[in-house]
Amino acid sequence: MNTKKIVLPESEIPRQWYNIMADMPTPMEPPLHPGTGQPAGPDDLSPIFPMALIEQEVSQDQVIDIPDEVLEKYLIWRPTPMYRAYELEKHLDTPARIYFKNEGVSPAGSHKPNTAIAQAYYNKMAGTKKITTETGAGQWGSALSMCCSFFGIECKVFMVKISYNQKPYRRLMMETWGGNCIPSPSNQTNAGRKILEQNPESPGSLGIAISEAVEAAAMDDDTKYSLGSVLNHVLLHQTVIGLECQKQMAIAGDYPDVVIGCAGGGSNFSGCALPFVRDKINGKEIDIIAVEPASCPTLTRGPFAYDFGDAVQMTPLLPMHTLGHSFVPEPIHAGGLRYHGMAPIVSQLLLDDLIRAESISQMETFQAGITFARTEGFISAPETNHAVAMAIREAIKAKEEGKEKTILINWSGHGLVDMAAYEAYLSGKLADHALPEDEIHRALDDIAPLPKPKQYKPGTIL
Ligand SMILES: Cc1ncc(COP(=O)(O)O)c(C=O)c1O
Repeated sequence: MNTKKIVLPESEIPRQWYNIMADMPTPMEPPLHPGTGQPAGPDDLSPIFPMALIEQEVSQDQVIDIPDEVLEKYLIWRPTPMYRAYELEKHLDTPARIYFKNEGVSPAGSHKPNTAIAQAYYNKMAGTKKITTETGAGQWGSALSMCCSFFGIECKVFMVKISYNQKPYRRLMMETWGGNCIPSPSNQTNAGRKILEQNPESPGSLGIAISEAVEAAAMDDDTKYSLGSVLNHVLLHQTVIGLECQKQMAIAGDYPDVVIGCAGGGSNFSGCALPFVRDKINGKEIDIIAVEPASCPTLTRGPFAYDFGDAVQMTPLLPMHTLGHSFVPEPIHAGGLRYHGMAPIVSQLLLDDLIRAESISQMETFQAGITFARTEGFISAPETNHAVAMAIREAIKAKEEGKEKTILINWSGHGLVDMAAYEAYLSGKLADHALPEDEIHRALDDIAPLPKPKQYKPGTIL
């Protein structure tokens, strides 16, 4: 009998996170203060983040110890299993070997608790009483609600309105874990009221929800803000995924030729990919692919520029691929991928050709999700379906080229709370959305006056 699940014992859980900033060939440019345009220092970030996380944000140490209290909580679901997708391989009649790392086994159903635990812990150590955050699909808000409850911290979540309406069970998960979930844009903040004045029917966006959560944290001394993706410290915490994968691949006696993750803000992709990027920097040949929705093509069509992380221009300016902070993507079901920007680390690795990016339309991703569910059993989150669809494309390519290939998918979460999206697909109500070039140009006009990073190339909009 062939091994289906490659399982690590608890004793093999990684004890350190991997910090790619120590190894990147091109150092990243600093975040800039939103008011002065000068590099933002720790003091600029301290009103909204605890110092331990700010230190991780700028650390150049190659590894950072995972605190025992965080490891203890990780053991609730970690190490996560890696599966060999034999049935999918058979169905596709491919010579490729497909593995998927199942991050859907966490209590919240995705990779998000890997950083939520760490962020709640460091906030607890700093005396934080309450944390505010944003959530798209609700995965992050539910993960943070759970982790705040573990450490006795209040949690307030601004949830993108379109997802709030599509996914009532995510709100209930947050409430079950003690979180307070509010549809965004809301009338509880200046940022939300401003957006509602411009468009009372706004479906919301992650950029808007971030503005609301940052504002709510900045107004209260006992409250901090927490971001579920994009920032360096978030990607750092997620590397526990890829570090486990490397051990599991060694047990399987294999090594990936292709590593694939979906990319919203870039955290699950990076979590799996960054330890392999280190191998690539050290000479391994690996194709590392970030997959995004065709209707929110940040990496594939957005320029590398300085932009705000939020819609209302409160956050520091980050050097990243962006579609412009006022870009509001189509209300596709992969709510966690509807973000105008991208992690600066992912953006820089793309510029340095250490990774590549692809975009896929909504219909193909659901078709892939159905194929995956009917072969491997697991129902993927709509975001995760982007990675599954890319893996299917690569497996078919391997067949056409007659090449054996090892493909690793970061399976970022299950879709059991996303069945309304599957219902829409199965009943023929879903469609692909074309994204007109004008719309990208309109949103990018807003960032034209902002400072430019050294690697900015005018006219890079594709
Ligand atoms: C299951 C799942 N996958 C992927 C993402 C995208 O986020 P990121 O790019 O930070 O991993 C989300 C975000 O909500 C998610 O819930």
